[in-house]
Amino acid sequence: MKRNAKKAKTRFTNGDPLCRRNEAEVIREIVETVWNIVCSSLPSYDDNLVGIESRMVKINALLEIEADSICFVGIWGMGGIGKTTLARLVFERISGQFEISCFLANVREISERKGIVSLQNDILLHLNKGQKIYDEHCGKTILNRLFRSKKVLLVVDDANHVSQLESLASPKWFGAGSRVIITTRNCTY
Ligand SMILES: Nc1ncnc2c1ncn2[C@@H]1O[C@H](COP(=O)(O)OP(=O)(O)OP(=O)(O)O)[C@@H](O)[C@H]1O
Ligand SMILES: [Mg+2]
Repeated sequence: MKRNAKKAKTRFTNGDPLCRRNEAEVIREIVETVWNIVCSSLPSYDDNLVGIESRMVKINALLEIEADSICFVGIWGMGGIGKTTLARLVFERISGQFEISCFLANVREISERKGIVSLQNDILLHLNKGQKIYDEHCGKTILNRLFRSKKVLLVVDDANHVSQLESLASPKWFGAGSRVIITTRNCTY
């Protein structure tokens, strides 16, 4: 950990003219760098997870975190193969690099039981927005406004219908560098 802290310090003192840059920007960058170093040196939260590191490597390659493009990555497979577990681990590791991050769990079940508006409200609740959505269309407008021009990490876990993505994570909504991870048992949509 000491070595990591030293690494972070070096990264910010070697040839980086801190004094010429906006203070808030520098602080944000320092926090992001330290967070990334700490997260990448953390062990998996459960060492009994079989083959998790190689899956993480594959998904990291697909996510291309450094790129400014907007990228959607799907994790598809039958029930119980570890899609949610993998998405959670990735989320925990990389969420510090985004302005907004949200993990929407059990989308299929919640949308069937409570409706899609409930999931739109979950996003607002998660982000501590003192606002309430009453209908799906308004929800799309509010989420669009919230995500627009922001670097967002959103996980849509266990989606089973394209309409869920249209209401929770339309590709048109996100700012540069955003990533959306979708887990699903069904890749036909
Ligand atoms: N790599 C792994 N090694 C060992 N156990 C794992 C691994 N990944 C997940 N598990 C375990 O398998 C079970 C199912 O995992 P998970 O809920 O992630 O599956 P899922 O693919 O999301 O299933 P569903 O489609 O039903 O949502 C969990 O108890 C989890 O702890
Ligand atoms: Mg799951």
